[in-house]
Amino acid sequence: MSTVVFLGGGRITSAMLAGLRLSKSRHRLVVHDRNPGKLRDLKKRYGVTVEPDLNRAAKQSDLLIVAVRPSSVRELLRSVGKVSQPLLAVSLAAGVPLHVLRKLAGPPMRWARAMPSPVCRSGSGLTAVSYSRKLPRVDRKRVHDLFATFGQVVEIPESKIDAFTVTYSCSHGYHALATLAHAAQAAGLDRKTALLASAHALADGILAWRDGNHSLESLLEEAVTPGGIAAAVATAMDAAGYGRAVRQGVAAGLRRARANAGK
Ligand SMILES: NC(=O)c1ccc[n+]([C@@H]2O[C@H](COP(=O)([O-])OP(=O)(O)OC[C@H]3O[C@@H](n4cnc5c(N)ncnc54)[C@H](OP(=O)(O)O)[C@@H]3O)[C@@H](O)[C@H]2O)c1
Repeated sequence: MSTVVFLGGGRITSAMLAGLRLSKSRHRLVVHDRNPGKLRDLKKRYGVTVEPDLNRAAKQSDLLIVAVRPSSVRELLRSVGKVSQPLLAVSLAAGVPLHVLRKLAGPPMRWARAMPSPVCRSGSGLTAVSYSRKLPRVDRKRVHDLFATFGQVVEIPESKIDAFTVTYSCSHGYHALATLAHAAQAAGLDRKTALLASAHALADGILAWRDGNHSLESLLEEAVTPGGIAAAVATAMDAAGYGRAVRQGVAAGLRRARANAGK
């Protein structure tokens, strides 16, 4: 049984622990965080081992998950770097490149990056992974297998991981849901019905496309009758700058990810 050590016991660690527990994973799970209250809570909710001492936590690790915010990575790794044994580590920190991680932590650490989402809590998420060029196959498999316990895993080159991060956020769905439901309420629906109708409108068709074998174009053609209501809605949204708004959002996310590299 291998030991997975999480450095940082915040939101994404909590979601991953839930996904790992759901899958009945046989890993031993250890969490280090600087907040004793968070450690107590994680221990109670997921039955994990908690370790308030950073070096003692890192020393137990067969696989180390760096799950602190990008602005905390430097401080954390300078301390972990003092661990002398070789370690396989995966950073979840958005925008912080492998070469920066290697430089901060020094030679004993072998690195990968991963980008999961809180949806991994339900066991049906997606995670992108990028590996250091020289990372041995056996290490790649260990990283892949951990994330595969709670969803699909795709390997992408590190040069694409910021674009993936910006695109693959469940916040897109929640944002679209909130915006559509708000407009539906303005059109006269009560909040409960507005949310129900909006959630089905956004989720059902997309899941059917993802799990079926129809092209997006054919499904759009089926759903949008020329001259009909859906056509009027889509045309008005496009004219109001829907595509431009999404492109500008993605560009802002990319700028933020690139800024994280220098934090
Ligand atoms: N949340 C997501 O959906 C998501 C998805 C994919 C990747 N990520 C990445 O995962 C990382 C964590 O995100 P998060 O949302 O889980 O953040 P978070 O909720 O803020 O959790 C980070 C935890 O690490 C603790 N911490 C920070 N520096 C520490 C240190 N030096 N020693 C010990 N503990 C320390 C924080 O304590 P304090 O509160 O005291 O700072 C906090 O409890 C980020 O780099 C993010 O880019 C997040």
